[in-house]
Amino acid sequence: MNNKITTLITEQEINAKIREAGNYISRKYSGNPLLVVGILKGCFMFMAELAKNITVPCEFGFMSAESYCGTESTGSVNITLDLKQDISEYHVIIAEDITDTGRTLKNIKKILEERSPLSLSVITLLDKPERREVDFVPDMALFTIPDIFVVGYGLDYNEYYRNLPYIGKLE
Ligand code: IMP
Ligand code: MG
Repeated sequence: MNNKITTLITEQEINAKIREAGNYISRKYSGNPLLVVGILKGCFMFMAELAKNITVPCEFGFMSAESYCGTESTGSVNITLDLKQDISEYHVIIAEDITDTGRTLKNIKKILEERSPLSLSVITLLDKPERREVDFVPDMALFTIPDIFVVGYGLDYNEYYRNLPYIGKLE
């Protein structure tokens, strides 16, 4: 992989926003059972930084989903890795790298809602609202970006570039 990548959001900018989000989450959920659910693989770096900035007791879990991008406007996802715990005793925050068409998160949110958590919200590192194909709004979006393809900080292009410590635009 040898594409030209230009920096869109620096590591410092990302970490500052994640620190704010961690502080907000720590205040909001203090004293309550909290489970943060990362959607693999894209969430891994975001989740690690977020975890370091949550200062209240908290559990972490991971899910993985494959999207079916058929012609149906409803779409659906196939859960390839699921949580082990019963989430009905937890406030759940879903953590995702990017909200693009919104299909993945809309579907995962619906699946988790059916398991009756105490509350359910979604935090996304990046949001591309111009690309939305379904009715979905994340509760927390750390950066809103235009309709461009980005890599780094967990996000890939053909599985490469996830390890870049910043968000870059693939030229
Ligand atoms: P959705 O379209 O909102 O369901 O997003 C599905 C997935 O597409 C995300 O979780 C990302 O893995 C991937 N994706 C969407 N936009 C980008 C991008 O700009 N760069 C890398 N991956 C992306
Ligand atoms: Mg991907």
